[in-house]
Amino acid sequence: MEVRMAVKEIKASELNTKEFIKDKTEEISSAVGAGTAINALSGGVDSSAVTMLGHKALQDRLKTYFVENGIMREGEPKRVVSLFKDLGVPVEIIDAKKEFFAALEGVTDPEQKREAITQTFYKKVFGRLVKESGAQFLLQGTILTDVDETIAGIKRQHNVFEQLGIDPQKAFGYKILEPLVQLRKDGVRKVAKELGLPESLYNRIPFPGPALSARVIGGVTPEKIEIVRKATAIVEDMLKESKAFQYMAILHDDRVTGIRDKKREFGMQIEIRCWESVDARTATPTRLSFDLLEALADRITREVPGVVSVTYNIAKKPPSTLEAV
Ligand code: XMP
Repeated sequence: MEVRMAVKEIKASELNTKEFIKDKTEEISSAVGAGTAINALSGGVDSSAVTMLGHKALQDRLKTYFVENGIMREGEPKRVVSLFKDLGVPVEIIDAKKEFFAALEGVTDPEQKREAITQTFYKKVFGRLVKESGAQFLLQGTILTDVDETIAGIKRQHNVFEQLGIDPQKAFGYKILEPLVQLRKDGVRKVAKELGLPESLYNRIPFPGPALSARVIGGVTPEKIEIVRKATAIVEDMLKESKAFQYMAILHDDRVTGIRDKKREFGMQIEIRCWESVDARTATPTRLSFDLLEALADRITREVPGVVSVTYNIAKKPPSTLEAV
């Protein structure tokens, strides 16, 4: 089995975006040849940059899908499809909600959760899409931090295979191309800007492949996802001016006693995290004002049903990580 050599990093400060785009479109064209490829667009910076690179290289020989897995943020499928429509890139929505929730049912261990999502994406959904479309390649937006953290055994990033000695051709029946794998987030943002993506996209905060299931501690159900989705929308809205690297809401597994309408309520807890970081390898919590934290708590406890407690994480990475799962 071929295990790829260590990836050579291109630092954002040394990156020539025009040259990078030219090199990568050539590499994609020559790898795919006369064949066809598919890719999944999640609406994050990485998959958006790959979508644009792939379309530059392959035009209509690349088919782009948005996999509606049921664990994305509020309003995402429509928003992403309409943004790319405006950029001239057609995106087809694939409804795979049932498959993802079925795979996640009863799974509480963080790595098993990640594995359940990996298998559903790559074996079930992409496997089927590749078969139906006749494509030989899957283009994806793996970046160097994903590879590092997987190899280091910190978190199984759902999009890393070859570096773990897994041959996607054998495991799933198609080849994977990763044009961004030499970059970190800051480099991808520069490339995304050069590719003509709007600022709302190239400066968008990172969002993990396992989506909101990385923000539910313990078992994932549609009901819990709905809670964390609502809290996420509030946190993203209220912290959008913070200029922080990333901010999120996490739903805890354990409940605490609260009081609502003068009655005891054994309710849920939301943890807010807001990070200062350059490349996600290390991070420190943003020193948000107490007024802002209080306003966040008020809105979350008022607008998200069943939530009676809101906390703010003040530990650095390491030993914390950015996501909770
Ligand atoms: P952690 O939680 O490991 O996250 O400190 C570092 C950065 O990576 C993002 N992240 C992921 N991105 N697939 C991705 O594409 C994943 O499985 C994944 N897990 C974490 C996280 O949001 C943070 O920006």
